[in-house]
Amino acid sequence: MYRIVKAKELTNNIYLMVIEAKRVAKNCLPGQFVIVRAEEESERIPLTICDYDRENGTVTIVFQVVGAGSLLLSQKKEGEAFHDFVGPLGRPSDFCETPLEELKQKKILFVAGGVGTAPVYPQVKWLKERGIPSDVIVGAKTKSLLIMEDEMRAVAQNLYITTDDGSYGRTGMVTKCIEDLVAEGKKYDICVAIGPMIMMKFCCLTTKKLGIPTVVSMNPVMVDGTGMCGGCRLTVGGEVKFACVDGPEFDGHLVDFDQAMKRQTIYKTEEGRRYLAAKEGATHHGGCGHCGGEQ
Ligand code: NAD
Ligand code: FES
Repeated sequence: MYRIVKAKELTNNIYLMVIEAKRVAKNCLPGQFVIVRAEEESERIPLTICDYDRENGTVTIVFQVVGAGSLLLSQKKEGEAFHDFVGPLGRPSDFCETPLEELKQKKILFVAGGVGTAPVYPQVKWLKERGIPSDVIVGAKTKSLLIMEDEMRAVAQNLYITTDDGSYGRTGMVTKCIEDLVAEGKKYDICVAIGPMIMMKFCCLTTKKLGIPTVVSMNPVMVDGTGMCGGCRLTVGGEVKFACVDGPEFDGHLVDFDQAMKRQTIYKTEEGRRYLAAKEGATHHGGCGHCGGEQ
């Protein structure tokens, strides 16, 4: 069992929890994820790691309640425990494997949208701890939905907040902010965009136009996170990939977002999964037994 050291609602329907998970905390790196199960029979929920404390053996997760599984997670209180907390899974962010001298030459822009702010944070922090500054754009629909502002300010060299309705910071979506910063004279060698699929799609269209290579995290398409269910199947540069085993981070300019979003909708129903199995072949269409694919 994995004890919940801290549980807090950050804003409407978005929760932060600090979990005692020594082995995960010892081994995880930015970009990786964990699979959480509230109870033995609960749904598996893949969540990108938001922070970790190797000394205290804790891992921080931030999640939005979007269904029964995440609702159950949110109802757990401090002092209670999760049945499973498996990880670290997935490949770490490319930064972790790039020589520091090479990274120091790069001007890096992070773009975080909504709940996607949580997985951006450990990457910016990791870079800052190694003396590598980065600019960060955080976008939210409105001021009350903004999360982790103070934490992000502490690790970013420059933090640009933008709200769709102009209630705080700049006005408009993150894509407008990227264009404005470039128009103001900023130059970036790489962009990391993490947030809702539609945001990542439009960020990639924007950065392609501006000639900035872009990395995205395809966590939103993951279902069981084990390589079994097929929920996270994607086409990247014409090749079939699975976000949970080959990612979750990919070259955003090569991801077929329209196909991924369409497939995500089809995958939600049993009929849809049968359709995908017929169309794509027999593998990875609900075999995990946890996504309802076998029923
Ligand atoms: P949201 O809908 O509030 O959007 C956040 C910001 O994204 C907006 O303020 C805007 O700036 C930008 N955005 C949205 N649509 C855009 C568009 N069409 N063009 C340009 N920019 C756009 O976000 P939310 O409700 O917090 O997002 C929840 C989603 O984030 C969930 O679907 C979840 O799966 C996903 N998520 C992704 C990751 C990841 O690793 N990629 C991690 C956590 C959550
Ligand atoms: Fe990748 Fe199930 S989430 S195969």
